[in-house]
Amino acid sequence: MGPVASPPPDELLPPAAVACTAAPEALEQRYHEAYQRLAAHGQLQVLRGWDALEPAGRSRLLADLESIDLDAVARAWSAAGAHGSAEEVSPVREVVDLPSARDPQARAEGERALRDGRVAALLVAGGQGTRLGYDGPKGAYPLGPVSGRSLFAMHAERLVALGRRFGPTPPLYVMTSPDNDAATRTLFAAHDSFGLPADRVRIFAQGVLPALDGEGRLLLAAPDRLVLAANGNGGLFAAMEQQGVFAHMRQLGSDVISYFHVDNALAASCDPRFIGHHLLAESEFSCKSIRRSNPGEAVGCFASRGGRLCIVEYTEIPRRLANARDDAGELVFSHGNPGLFVWSRGFAERQAARRDFPVHRAHKRIAHVDSTGRPVSPTAPNGYKLETFALDALPTAARAIVVLCARAQEFAPLKQATGVDSPQSARALLCALHRGWIERAGGVVAAQARVEIGPLYALDAAELASRLPRGFRAETDTYLGA
Ligand code: UTP
Repeated sequence: MGPVASPPPDELLPPAAVACTAAPEALEQRYHEAYQRLAAHGQLQVLRGWDALEPAGRSRLLADLESIDLDAVARAWSAAGAHGSAEEVSPVREVVDLPSARDPQARAEGERALRDGRVAALLVAGGQGTRLGYDGPKGAYPLGPVSGRSLFAMHAERLVALGRRFGPTPPLYVMTSPDNDAATRTLFAAHDSFGLPADRVRIFAQGVLPALDGEGRLLLAAPDRLVLAANGNGGLFAAMEQQGVFAHMRQLGSDVISYFHVDNALAASCDPRFIGHHLLAESEFSCKSIRRSNPGEAVGCFASRGGRLCIVEYTEIPRRLANARDDAGELVFSHGNPGLFVWSRGFAERQAARRDFPVHRAHKRIAHVDSTGRPVSPTAPNGYKLETFALDALPTAARAIVVLCARAQEFAPLKQATGVDSPQSARALLCALHRGWIERAGGVVAAQARVEIGPLYALDAAELASRLPRGFRAETDTYLGA
């Protein structure tokens, strides 16, 4: 951590002089250890209010301190932003354009992997959903346009349907954050794992990272609490290792991981054709891409840096590059990231062992308490939140591919309460896709009617065509569920 002035010695008691009343020896030992670690990193300011804390508060503060790796925070602070400049990137050239001549072979390969039980679904659902502002895990959002089904139900039903078609149900691993872990577990329990066999679902929580002030110092949310936040979806690799997810996958024989975001209502997890392309290419990290709709769209851009494939997050791409157009008027960085990946398990396990996983800093307004314990509610950014992105694993893959997909079939994001990427826009995308399936199968949908097709009725247009009753007409809102 950068040069951080420790509080003057007279403001702090040395470890030996601390008197604790509750379980005094254990608390004293913990204080001693925390003190040493904080002193080594110039972070003793967080102990300024120690004397005034009750034993329970002292224990709480120590627990927060014990939950973070100060070495990692120091590394993150000094290296944040140093993992390659977004200015040094060029557009990606090699892309598998779907449909491709290799599709039949790829589909057969992917289906075989599903039949052999090699595929696991990894759903990241630890985000805070700040932009949506929904009270509860985003996965609980009732997005089904007609059914009112939650996002969790939609994602789980797809896996149930895949299990019915191919044999073993792909196991579902759900990453939560400390903020929404309990609520997510409660939901899955209340809904009988949304139809999935309970032993095929594992919920695990990602870790946290502390927020820092402008000089890299830890901030307090209260005299007995650090300001901590979920460590970004890149926290999944370490969490998977620490919480036995990889071990569980090894036990089940799953060596292909299908990664997707909870807030994409059209996320086709464990897609056989995509998995097949991944396997045929002997790829470690395969990515679906979609054409970016406009220069300001909130999706990352596929690019190449130093000859390696990478994704530059939309928050970090310079405007000049995001806006660049070629002679034909097309966006130069035209490939956007919908967050649909397939990884080999060995690759993901290697990420967990990395000590240099990139950490990004976001300059934000961070409410905290000052050294006297007084609350501070800044009106301008006053510090940094630290976050990791799973997509940052991409450049280290020995082999990686990008597969360009039809946007309308893959991407219906739920990010905001209104407008772009809102419940309204996501529902409209879902209905438009399903209307197209029905019409192609010879059915009719009245102009004002909304149609929604659940994966248990049909996973795709071909399955729908095989089972839609002749002369099907939807005059009003219709849900084809099971
Ligand atoms: P986003 O950052 O786009 O969405 O995460 P968010 O965090 O839910 O919402 P905002 O940004 O606060 O408005 C993309 C995916 O990564 C997951 C999210 O749950 C979503 O599926 N994610 C994000 C995590 O699992 N953990 C995190 O710490 C952050």
